[in-house]
Amino acid sequence: MNKIKNILIACLVMTVALVSCDSGNIRRTPGHIYAPDMTYSRAYDAYTSNPNFADSMTSRLPVTGAIARGHMLPDHLREGDTTAYKTFTTTARFSADELNEGRRLFNIYCGICHGTNLDGQGPLFASGKFASMPANFKDAKYLHMPVGQMFAAAKYGKNMMGSYAAQLDAKQRWMVIAYIKQFQSKNGGDAFTFGEATAKPDSAKAAPMMAKVEEKKTK
Ligand code: HEC
Repeated sequence: MNKIKNILIACLVMTVALVSCDSGNIRRTPGHIYAPDMTYSRAYDAYTSNPNFADSMTSRLPVTGAIARGHMLPDHLREGDTTAYKTFTTTARFSADELNEGRRLFNIYCGICHGTNLDGQGPLFASGKFASMPANFKDAKYLHMPVGQMFAAAKYGKNMMGSYAAQLDAKQRWMVIAYIKQFQSKNGGDAFTFGEATAKPDSAKAAPMMAKVEEKKTK
């Protein structure tokens, strides 16, 4: 009885070993497909040929004028590149709400030194606790200061003034600078150009192009 049992166990072990060592016949396809849509994608996979486009490529370049997420506003000025600071121009525009937010942030982060009247007489300086005179934004020296230079000051700091890059992200810094420029325009500065755009942004042009792609796909 014991002998038969041993033979049976040996047979079982051998069968299992043979089945698991069947390396000459590797299966590349799943046995049962429970969710065919997941196994065989209905969408075109990247790098596969695509009959919807003349160049047959599924991976497309971004639509002209597309802007990467979080990169809506310029933030490329390099520290110390004063020529770039001064020649920098931007088409960035801000809504009334954004300008209000700029004022709120200015009063929190900058007002302590530059003063909520932007005259450089913030409480920290006026009380004598901070020795270096903060910029008086009503002064002729600052009234026409290029926005790139102002943005760089907020991002990298300037002499005794520290960087505010850790407290304010790029959009917040731009909102603060736009607010300063708006304030200056009412106090002898240049005409205010940061107000909300009336012309349609480039993204409006992208919409019809996307519609065309959709149309092709459904054909
Ligand atoms: C701790 C005080 C302090 C705070 C807070 C402060 N600043 Fe200043 N800021 C200064 C001083 C001092 C100067 C003058 C630096 C110099 O020219 O030597 C200055 C200069 C500037 C200038 C002129 C830069 C230039 O190139 O001459 C700008 C623009 C500016 N600050 C913007 C800001 C903004 C925006 C904030 C808030 C995010 C801010 N500052 C917060 C102290 C401060």
